Amino acid sequence: MKELSNVSRRDFIKTSAAGMAGVLAAQNVMFAASAPRKFRVGLIGCGGRGNGALENCFEAAKIIGAELEVVATADWFKDRAENAGKKHNVPASRCFSGGDAYKKLLETSVEVVLIATSPNFRPAHLEAAVKAGKHVFMEKPVAVDPPGGRKVIAAGEVARQKGLAIVAGTQRRHEASYLRTQYAVERGAIGQIVGGCVWWCGGALWFQTKKPGESDADYMVRNWVSFTEMSGDHLVEQHVHNLDVANWFIGHPPLTALGFGGRARRKTGNQFDFFSIDFDYGNGCRIHSMCRQINGTDGDVREFFRGTEGETGGGGGLKGSKQIEVPKFPEHNPYVQEHIDLLNSIIAEKPLNEARNVAESTLTAIMGRISSYTGKLVRWKDLVENESSPWYNLTCKPTALDFETGQVVAPPDDIPAVPGREA
Ligand SMILES: NC(=O)c1ccc[n+]([C@@H]2O[C@H](COP(=O)([O-])OP(=O)(O)OC[C@H]3O[C@@H](n4cnc5c(N)ncnc54)[C@H](O)[C@@H]3O)[C@@H](O)[C@H]2O)c1
Repeated sequence: MKELSNVSRRDFIKTSAAGMAGVLAAQNVMFAASAPRKFRVGLIGCGGRGNGALENCFEAAKIIGAELEVVATADWFKDRAENAGKKHNVPASRCFSGGDAYKKLLETSVEVVLIATSPNFRPAHLEAAVKAGKHVFMEKPVAVDPPGGRKVIAAGEVARQKGLAIVAGTQRRHEASYLRTQYAVERGAIGQIVGGCVWWCGGALWFQTKKPGESDADYMVRNWVSFTEMSGDHLVEQHVHNLDVANWFIGHPPLTALGFGGRARRKTGNQFDFFSIDFDYGNGCRIHSMCRQINGTDGDVREFFRGTEGETGGGGGLKGSKQIEVPKFPEHNPYVQEHIDLLNSIIAEKPLNEARNVAESTLTAIMGRISSYTGKLVRWKDLVENESSPWYNLTCKPTALDFETGQVVAPPDDIPAVPGREA
């Protein structure tokens, strides 16, 4: 595996110089060699993670000797778009708000777009960004339903054809400890993976209540971590990190999911408090997935894999019979390394494309959620292939388009799915 962060400025300069018409005077070439590459960046979704991702991108640019200019911001709420813009000297005229703010941002000269809205908007925003010819960093998860997951896979293929980079905020695929372990596992350090467990068990997240007179759309955008239609439920929103590691280490998504879950403590929205799912990856390999958001309970966030010749955690603790020589991987904060890898891949004209990986991990979590909400065994092919399956076109409503066209009716608070009865 090539360490993209090691693509040197010299390689980049060679590449860009070679691409020129061959008529540049020597002094102009020298200017190209000394001028740092400047990226024109835009931010869609100016909340906690969006602002954080922008800072991470600045740090990444500094590490690789590049520069960033924030050209535009976009948020559902005007004050959030403007506050993020002010930090980076973006004129108010390029701080866009509302349901179509992303479209206005994509019409500017941005070349790299960071997307960090709630997950329900990701497929539509990614598709539009790729259509507009932009490179993308997008936060996980990337969809809340099967059609959304498939849209992300399709947008990823279009990006590949257009030479655009897409990097996802799944972190662990950019984290040295995970990269080392996965490298060894892929080369047989623990034999073949036959089972394991992945956990994200912790406390409750924040929630918001509806303000008097507030529109349903504003309420759902503010309180997105409570509604399955916005977040995908916490199995999708948070536990996707660990399911992503399982898919990465095993090498493919699971064939089926059979799970259960429930809700007793939440006050708003319709998400469950906990899930327990048996994922069957085929060839006798099963992964148990556990996630919970309940205060006062024991927490655990990690992965464990049992192989035919050993065992390991996702980020280390490998005990195996075969010694594998593992190369050095960059040790930066993974939140920063994601952006180093993104920017370096653009410079090297070898665009990273993580759309399929993150879409499949998101769909894995969605498969587990559908099974837990219904009590039914759900097959991977029901989500990606079998158009006559009841799950293939299962669409969470209100949709991203409903938010754009002002058609949002919020689902009632505190009425969760009932297994045995509905999806
Ligand atoms: N990788 C990680 O470790 C990590 C950590 C936290 C959050 N996240 C992910 O980042 C995303 C955002 O999470 P957050 O914590 O920043 O939430 P947040 O509520 O703080 O921010 C989301 C922002 O998006 C805006 N927004 C919503 N819909 C929009 C639309 N249609 N157009 C433009 N803006 C819109 C909201 O107004 C808000 O400002 C989520 O997908 C979350 O899962 C990832």
